[in-house]
Amino acid sequence: MQITMTVNDHEYTRDVEPRMLLIHFLRDELGLTGSHWGCDTSNCGMCVVWLDAVPVKSCTVLAAMANGRQVRTVEGLESDGQLDPVQEGFMACHGLQCGFCTPGMMMTARWLLDHNPDPSEQEIREAISGQVCRCTGYVNIVRAIRWAAEHPAALPASSANSDSAASSASEEVSA
Ligand code: FES
Ligand code: FES
Repeated sequence: MQITMTVNDHEYTRDVEPRMLLIHFLRDELGLTGSHWGCDTSNCGMCVVWLDAVPVKSCTVLAAMANGRQVRTVEGLESDGQLDPVQEGFMACHGLQCGFCTPGMMMTARWLLDHNPDPSEQEIREAISGQVCRCTGYVNIVRAIRWAAEHPAALPASSANSDSAASSASEEVSA
């Protein structure tokens, strides 16, 4: 079957099998490998993307269900070469180790901040509660999202990656 969807502001038309999952469409058909495929059973949240501006686990969505709709992936967070504050925050606060969960975490974080620009630690933890991180213990992920809340205008990557930015964020957010 032929489907057409807009991904990160670009329209794509492809012939796909009706059973193809959205995560496989993004990775295998479009080459957008930023979104990761983990459990395939809707447990880990590695595959979170936006479907019509709502986070979804793309291993639970058929590509055909996205026909005619808008999809945004982690590749679509930056704009004109400028990283999103969420991406800056993960850099500044060391919010990742292996990075496997990071794209999905970032998409949920961006959605949270778009709807709640000043979330509490508890609200952040609730927002990412459907996603698993095997490395960080979540503390630095929470710090990263709080950092983004405190720095809504993106900074140059060199500034966000400085030790001073990281220590500033550590002071602002309780673990
Ligand atoms: S791969 Fe989708 S939730 Fe784990
Ligand atoms: S950074 Fe490794 S799973 Fe989260």
